[in-house]
Amino acid sequence: MTAFVEGPLLQSPLRWGMVGGGKGSQIGHSHRDAAQRDGLMQLVAGAFDIDAERGRSFGVSLGLDAGRCYPSYAAMFEAEAARSDGIQVVSIATPNSSHFAVCKAALQAGLHVVCEKPLTIRLEDAQELQALATARGVVLGVMYGYTGYEMVQQARAMVQGGELGAVRVVHMQFAHGYHSAEVESADPGTKWRVTPAISGPSYVIGDLATHCYQMGALVSGLQLESLSCVRRSFVASRAPLEDDAHVMLRYQGNAVGMLWASAINIGSAHGFKLRVVCEKGSIEWWDEQPNQLKVAFAGKPEMTYERGHGYLDPSARFERVGGGHPAGYFDAWANLYRRFALAMSPEPQARALLDGQWFPSAQDGVEGVRFMLRCVESADAGSQWVGFQ
Ligand SMILES: NC(=O)c1ccc[n+]([C@@H]2O[C@H](COP(=O)([O-])OP(=O)(O)OC[C@H]3O[C@@H](n4cnc5c(N)ncnc54)[C@H](O)[C@@H]3O)[C@@H](O)[C@H]2O)c1
Repeated sequence: MTAFVEGPLLQSPLRWGMVGGGKGSQIGHSHRDAAQRDGLMQLVAGAFDIDAERGRSFGVSLGLDAGRCYPSYAAMFEAEAARSDGIQVVSIATPNSSHFAVCKAALQAGLHVVCEKPLTIRLEDAQELQALATARGVVLGVMYGYTGYEMVQQARAMVQGGELGAVRVVHMQFAHGYHSAEVESADPGTKWRVTPAISGPSYVIGDLATHCYQMGALVSGLQLESLSCVRRSFVASRAPLEDDAHVMLRYQGNAVGMLWASAINIGSAHGFKLRVVCEKGSIEWWDEQPNQLKVAFAGKPEMTYERGHGYLDPSARFERVGGGHPAGYFDAWANLYRRFALAMSPEPQARALLDGQWFPSAQDGVEGVRFMLRCVESADAGSQWVGFQ
């Protein structure tokens, strides 16, 4: 990763639209903040809401031209394609079951896409989107936002650089406690997550475990071979979807793993942690203290690596702000949107500025959907071990 450079990297920001992420949505603001942070994308159009009038007035409140606040994604793609200054990129931040149709229409319109996870709720749909993006020559990114943290890059560099030795155990959890009771009766954002027709075949596996799986794969560099999952709905009305899941994992070689995804972990705010234990040492990262990485080598006291220091791998030294100041969630997202924009821009210098930097791609999206479905398959067959591929 090259160090942070302030100022415009592009002659013209990408003209950017959104589907979903309307007023009061959980994740819409994160996209708007991150995409526009470095001036590489500019929001010019949107179909923000399932309720057309609410979406229009919200778009206007964001400063958009009322004529570019559309009642539906289909209307937006059609009208924008007819404009000489139409959108070039769209972000999709709607509930899970709509991702496939919206994303397919966007790719068919020749747009670059940033889609929320899980990319789709069926594997063949995710694979179709990946193939379509390749065929149209556009970028399809998936918003695994946590992987934009600098200390996650550091973890990846240390594990894959070999200084810790071969990976033995990948331990992951994303276990919060916000939904330990039936809150969904008064919360539409939780209600769709426990409704199979909208959420897909899982709740916490698709919502939370896919983040863990993707980060575990990114940091360890290991291919998953097989898994065994148990899932439960401790709030009975959520069945057949689960609010708690445990997964045992076998990776290529000799490595193994464990993953806990939960919405009923009372006392935990967010609880997203990754620990990778290797032959000579281990690393541990926690998203509630994202500027630190715990590092230990056998026989030595544990160390805390801090963001912004010269001893870190160059890939972890982006430094929007110097060490000691806490960089956070929005910065991590902006780091990824910066890379999406550089990968998507038609300007000739953009690719060089990207300089081989990694971002979560359609392939990550496909693998996340595969992981979700394999977990469900295993759990529903009495936790049988199932092959990952
Ligand atoms: N990457 C992350 O860290 C992260 C975090 C939270 C949510 N998500 C994902 O983001 C997506 C949205 O989640 P959320 O929690 O923001 O949901 P939400 O229910 O809070 O908001 C969904 C928004 O989409 C709008 N919408 C629904 N259908 C639409 C349609 N057909 N056209 C236009 N707008 C439509 C709704 O009106 C609402 O504004 C989900 O796929 C979820 O998994 C990702």
